[in-house]
Amino acid sequence: MAKKNKKAAAPGEERMQKLVSLCKRRGYIFQSSEIYGGLNSCWDYGPLGVELKNNIKRNWWKAMVHSREDVVGLDSSVLMHPDIWQASGHVDGFTDPMVDCTKCRRRFREDDFEGDACPACGGELTEARQFNLMFKTFMGPLEDQASVVFLRPETAQGIYVNFLNVQTSSRKKVPFGIAQIGKAFRNEITPGNFIFRMREFEQMEMQYFIKPDSGREWLEYWKEQRMAWYVAQGVRADRLHFHEHGPDDLAHYARAAFDIEYDFPFGRKELEGIHDRTDFDLSRHQEHSGKKLTYIDPAANERFIPHIVETSAGVDRSLLVILADAYDEEELEKDTRVVLRLSPKLAPIKAAVFPLVKRDGMPEIARGIKDTLESHGMPVLYDEGGAVGRRYRRQDEAGTPYGITVDSDTLTDQTVTVRDRDSMAQERVAIDALHGYLTDRIESWTPAAG
Ligand code: GAP
Repeated sequence: MAKKNKKAAAPGEERMQKLVSLCKRRGYIFQSSEIYGGLNSCWDYGPLGVELKNNIKRNWWKAMVHSREDVVGLDSSVLMHPDIWQASGHVDGFTDPMVDCTKCRRRFREDDFEGDACPACGGELTEARQFNLMFKTFMGPLEDQASVVFLRPETAQGIYVNFLNVQTSSRKKVPFGIAQIGKAFRNEITPGNFIFRMREFEQMEMQYFIKPDSGREWLEYWKEQRMAWYVAQGVRADRLHFHEHGPDDLAHYARAAFDIEYDFPFGRKELEGIHDRTDFDLSRHQEHSGKKLTYIDPAANERFIPHIVETSAGVDRSLLVILADAYDEEELEKDTRVVLRLSPKLAPIKAAVFPLVKRDGMPEIARGIKDTLESHGMPVLYDEGGAVGRRYRRQDEAGTPYGITVDSDTLTDQTVTVRDRDSMAQERVAIDALHGYLTDRIESWTPAAG
């Protein structure tokens, strides 16, 4: 029988495949329900993935809430009054145009491809139909129309409906913001590209309440803040771009909108949206709830419905950007080194400690180093399995920035070798000075050019 030629993967596709398999191998991300054949578009974060995700969320919260006087936090529920989604426009307008192929029966988002034929088999496509992306469920024991509730498709609405609660309890004056991190659910027609488009994902959103007609000014301010945040996470600036929405692709709530886009291995795509939402949201909720959502400016004694500038980022998408940006392959003399050049501030494990051999007291010293560093709040891994070179390589792939080796010299001079993940350079450091040495390195790290 003739052998079928396997189609070679495009470079971007191959890079994604390598990243996906590294994520599984090193415990970053697993397919959800894998032993049952998997659940499409749902992913689970493994031991390293959950740490990286927590570090991203912590850094976002620090930048958006803790280091500012004008933004406070919120954690609203996923299930909310169904009228909220009527008011927000999601019941009527949160739809994607969907087409079906009459030949292979696949379903596509009409705006995901160009041309009139099926992108998979070239077959004829049906007319586009609008498909609502909200997941529905029932609240209480009856499964009837009156008990329908939705899983929130964005965290933003939980902020708008709490505007007065937060403003009065925290005594904030406009301009001020409310930030929230939480799960969102969308029944996407064509999820895919690993964790780029999922049906269950997390958002980090901030709604900034402002005076009417100051939208343009605040939009510019938040664009710069958000772009700087990604660069501070170690993402290469030349792979990040702004994309302004034209009149045809503006969402129903926005007067002006910019996306921060990233050059993913599968092309340039949206990472975060920054929107001037005018007074659309509070006006709609005032109208539908019958509750006044106005604010009185104490200086001018003016009453108005605040306008809103929103920054809306995906946690999972940020994590994908951070991983894709950090993934590197380096040709060495004998082989290829795979290294995840994560910012040490984000890396799940900051250092790995290795006894060179499992005797002469080296394991005990190595464990002592791990305990001391961890008592300072630094997550450290202990590994005594296999040749030390192999142990270094495992940690290169895991993105661990520093490797600490205890060897026979340590027994006499209380120093260890510290190996730098990025340059592979090694330095002797006294055990007593290790914490300070690593902290300085972590704080001053900058991504290598190129
Ligand atoms: N509140 C506005 C809003 O939700 P959006 O552009 O629909 O705006 C904001 O979503 C961000 O949420 C996106 O830029 C992306 O990072 C993330 N996001 C949206 N849908 C997603 C999905 N299906 N899977 C993963 N992340 C998603």
